[in-house]
Amino acid sequence: MKISVPATSANLGPGFDSVGLAVSCYLSIEVLEESSQWVIEHDLAGVPSDENNLLIKTVLEVAPDLHPHRIKMISDIPLARGLGSSSSVIVAGIELANQLGQLNLSDDDKLSIATKIEGHPDNVAPAIFGNLVVASYINQELNKIVADFPETALVAYVPAYELKTSDSRQALPQELSFKEAVLASSVANMAVAGLLTGDLEMAGRAMSQDRFHEPYRQKLVPEFPEIRELGQNFGAYATYLSGAGPTVMTLLPKDKKEAFILALEKQLPAKVLALEVDRKGVVVEH
Ligand code: HSE
Repeated sequence: MKISVPATSANLGPGFDSVGLAVSCYLSIEVLEESSQWVIEHDLAGVPSDENNLLIKTVLEVAPDLHPHRIKMISDIPLARGLGSSSSVIVAGIELANQLGQLNLSDDDKLSIATKIEGHPDNVAPAIFGNLVVASYINQELNKIVADFPETALVAYVPAYELKTSDSRQALPQELSFKEAVLASSVANMAVAGLLTGDLEMAGRAMSQDRFHEPYRQKLVPEFPEIRELGQNFGAYATYLSGAGPTVMTLLPKDKKEAFILALEKQLPAKVLALEVDRKGVVVEH
């Protein structure tokens, strides 16, 4: 059995902790034979290979009595870069427990478990459902809408340095004034309304005017303003900080993608990923 889970790009500008998109870069796990203890084969430096691995921690949280297996894990998702690598592992762990334990979890059950573990739904929800997910999680009550993301090219600029979500959240203010919150939420409303009606130009303008987190995190990702400016030269709809960063995501017309990537690689050498929207979410193959 093989389980694959997409990477995710959260926030999309002003949709802080609430909006996320599944993208075409994957974590996959293959379930091998039963074993006396859990073993994860992988080539990710610094990641545990036993029960301390987040995958197995998640499995055991969902189904503590499962018989251990040997698992092969392969991931193309850059770690600690704002592309939901740990959310993908959590979703894979829940699905693994679901399959091995024959738990018959619905997608909403999986979302509820994953959100409790992760604390917010913006990465785990698109990792489960694919596509665009708008969600809220307030006083343990979870609501979500899954919708088709408009056709666009996605270009992820992935810096060589890591940025831990906890460190990136430390940069955020404790409070916003009522006036600032009203402005920030009006921008978020426009971004979501634009995305849901397929108006990428309108959505993109709003996505580039976030007031919840990007102004405070800019200093952690110094390349961000330069990439946004370069994107504008290529007709980009939006450039935003993916999740907690440091990846910077640019949405632009498909016919501008190649030229933008060439210019970006020339101006700011780093890993650049040409991505598409993933429309499936977690997939199980038997
Ligand atoms: N919404 C989260 C943040 C995503 O921006 O901190 C990262 O987990």
